[in-house]
Amino acid sequence: MITVFGSINVDLVCRVRKAPQPGETVLGSDYELIPGGKGANQALAARRAGATVRMVGAIGDDDIGKVALNELTPAGVDLSTVARRKGTTGIAIITVDDHGENTIVVSPGANAAADAGSIPADGMDAGDTLLLQMEVPPEQVFAAAKRAKAGGARVILSVAPFAPLEAEVLGDIDMVIVNEHEAQDFAGHFGLPAGTPEETAAALAKRLGRAVTVTLGPDGAVTAGDEGVIRVPALKVTPVDTTGAGDTFAGVLAACLDGGQSLREAMALAAIAGSLACTRHGAQPSFPTRAEIEAARP
Ligand code: RIB
Repeated sequence: MITVFGSINVDLVCRVRKAPQPGETVLGSDYELIPGGKGANQALAARRAGATVRMVGAIGDDDIGKVALNELTPAGVDLSTVARRKGTTGIAIITVDDHGENTIVVSPGANAAADAGSIPADGMDAGDTLLLQMEVPPEQVFAAAKRAKAGGARVILSVAPFAPLEAEVLGDIDMVIVNEHEAQDFAGHFGLPAGTPEETAAALAKRLGRAVTVTLGPDGAVTAGDEGVIRVPALKVTPVDTTGAGDTFAGVLAACLDGGQSLREAMALAAIAGSLACTRHGAQPSFPTRAEIEAARP
């Protein structure tokens, strides 16, 4: 079983030819309200990949909060541990340009009140997985990791939004996931030399003392850890919207590992899923099912 402890947002998405620069106003498309949030996204991606998934987090009691669970509910994610707090739901204001690239500003709202203490004790045992991101308060993220590790669960942290973390705070994390640029920043933070993705992942894994996965967009992904360095390719696609592609990767990777698949196999399927997510608009509506992932295998 996978527990995702993290953010639940509503994405206010506007398509633009080119994202505005500071001081600039641009006209965009009609806006759309789409369920999002890195935590909720990863929960949905894992569920669509076939895992049993529980979401732990918080939404507000505002009208927009009703949109936040519109994809998680029919997918069958356990939402009994999603709290409804007085105040606003997390909102992400997103632009997506003609190349499918995005800009995102997040207003945390109820995510700021996400409480690791509300994670049930069951489902945190050996063979279970806790999947974390950095869109809820860091102290709650690391408290959740501590509880899961004590129970024997696998703990995966997607370091998004990115901030360099010291090795000491990662003591209960088995694997960290970052993208290519974040990996370089992370390595730079520790004074590690720039190198290929494989070299950077290996140097970070050594420095942090745990597995490090680096997503490489159209170039796939690489993981360095106990099993050495593993690289997998992405699919060749024409991206229309990259929003949530990293979350898709993390959710599918967690689902496959939780299901007992090898790291190489889990990475291969996660990379395919991330590619497929770039071919459709929005975050959550773009996430593939297990059958779609398997069908897209080269
Ligand atoms: O990773 C994409 C997500 O980041 C969006 O869905 C948005 O809600 C922000 O959390």
